[in-house]
Amino acid sequence: MQRHNIFNQIHKGLRALLFDTALHLQRTDFTNEVEAEEALNKVREAVLLFDEHAQKEDAFVLPAIAEFEPSVVATFQAEHVKDMALSNQLTASVETFFLQDAPAQKILAGQQLTRSFMAFTVFNLEHMAKEEDLVNTILWRYYSDEVILGMQQEIVRNTTPWLNDFFSKWMLRGINTAEATSWLQAVQATAPDVVFQTLLNKAAEELPGARFERIASALADGVPTA
Ligand SMILES: [Fe+2]
Repeated sequence: MQRHNIFNQIHKGLRALLFDTALHLQRTDFTNEVEAEEALNKVREAVLLFDEHAQKEDAFVLPAIAEFEPSVVATFQAEHVKDMALSNQLTASVETFFLQDAPAQKILAGQQLTRSFMAFTVFNLEHMAKEEDLVNTILWRYYSDEVILGMQQEIVRNTTPWLNDFFSKWMLRGINTAEATSWLQAVQATAPDVVFQTLLNKAAEELPGARFERIASALADGVPTA
């Protein structure tokens, strides 16, 4: 039986954020002020969302497995500390960039920033894969899908709305059409209408027209798409 993967949707969103930002950095001419500012803003957004994500896992997911597998919890807490060090290094690279005036220095600072972002990306791709392997195995052993889904909903309830808004944008960009349809159907069935309409509008903005049409028609018919 396919079990509920608490990380699936959020990690797909976070990977979309990493890939998009990494590609954007590669294409940035750091001597162009507008391009550089845009790239730095994307890096800041990534740092913000990854920090928030790690804090929520520390608060709502790791405690659920602590009594069964304390050593696994210790390993992931240590990884979150390493992640924080990489975020701090990235933030320092962003600040260093702003201290540069000469074009040649800006190019060098841009290269340094790009390297820091790649290190952050590599670490987080491996970290997320490990969570999906090890943490899921433990969650599935000790908890029902209903309880696991409850943990996921608890995280959303305890996240500031404007941050949820950023996460939703990246999740919509990172998941497939069937997943987006199920997500919207679940929100339609359980959340206030204003929350559903906001997410639906975001889906219309973020997804290519043909994909959004498939979701909209499934919502109208009340059946899941494949
Ligand atoms: Fe995670």
